[in-house]
Amino acid sequence: MEAVTDGAVVVRGLRKSYGHFEAVRGVDFAVQRGEVFSLLGPNGAGKTTTMEMLEGYRERTSGEAWVLGMDPQSRDRRFRERVGIVLQDIAVDAYLTVREIVARNAGYYPDPRNVDETIDLVGLKEKANSRINKLSGGQQRRLDLAMGIIGNPDLLFLDEPTTGFDPNARRGAWDVIRGLREGGTTILLTTHYMDEAQALADHVAVIAAGEIVAAGTPDTIGGRQQAAVRIRFLPPAGTRLEQLPLPVQRNGEWVEIQTDEPTTVLHSLTGWALDRGLELPGLEVDRPTLEDVYLELTGAAARADAPASERAGTTREGAA
Ligand SMILES: Nc1ncnc2c1ncn2[C@@H]1O[C@H](COP(=O)(O)OP(=O)(O)OP(=O)(O)O)[C@@H](O)[C@H]1O
Ligand SMILES: [Mg+2]
Repeated sequence: MEAVTDGAVVVRGLRKSYGHFEAVRGVDFAVQRGEVFSLLGPNGAGKTTTMEMLEGYRERTSGEAWVLGMDPQSRDRRFRERVGIVLQDIAVDAYLTVREIVARNAGYYPDPRNVDETIDLVGLKEKANSRINKLSGGQQRRLDLAMGIIGNPDLLFLDEPTTGFDPNARRGAWDVIRGLREGGTTILLTTHYMDEAQALADHVAVIAAGEIVAAGTPDTIGGRQQAAVRIRFLPPAGTRLEQLPLPVQRNGEWVEIQTDEPTTVLHSLTGWALDRGLELPGLEVDRPTLEDVYLELTGAAARADAPASERAGTTREGAA
């Protein structure tokens, strides 16, 4: 039993059916204590269903799950005291103020955070005395985050915590999440923002149609580190592409080169430009982003799921 209680979350062969529809189809993963683990995947992939089974809100159809060494289905008091939850959709009493609802929730826990500090932390200080039904969408989402962390949890479930946040608020939430992680909180996060997963997650798993299609760190998942480097620039004025020292591809206005030898290729390219006193406008060197890899992984999964007739269509288009 030691192996399963060591991890913050251990999941083996987890399945959930809604009637005849199997939303989660045998999922395995482990979340280490103190890390941020992110579940990624398209709408309807099974992320919320998986989270809810681990939160103890939904019974699993089969498989095994340990959360802080406990079975989430037991939902005993110790479990509820040590786990914080930010649901994808949350319903609270609209006529309470922010401070009232956070204080009320604090009362449910043996060792809660300070109420006003928590309200300040999520950026709602100015709204502490506002009624909840007067908050904007993003402000309500910040309140959800406050409610998730008020109990000082060891493990925090965040289901799309920053959906609807403006860019500044998102960065603010990232700081909150990083601060919690530094304080030792384990965090299980879903998000549709790949930059968020890149910025926060120690490990990610991509789920599509109820199955994990890839897992790893944000930097290495899907072979990211081994992927070819892309070099691109805009054509220098007054030159023809045939004059360039290497074969290139056009992508809209851009000139692109994919290579496994970026140092050599850049040397040859910039040497050629310098010899002619040219600038390579907009010169960029990059590898596929987490979003590129994600789209590749989930696109492949979606195509495998599509009826054969549709798939044939895709192939014809691709070949055209
Ligand atoms: N209570 C339910 N009854 C029947 N089907 C459900 C129920 N809840 C979810 N589903 C179905 O299960 C699948 C997975 O849903 P889930 O909410 O887990 O997806 P998700 O990955 O969280 O998606 P999103 O990114 O849109 O939040 C979907 O096809 C959904 O329609
Ligand atoms: Mg969801």
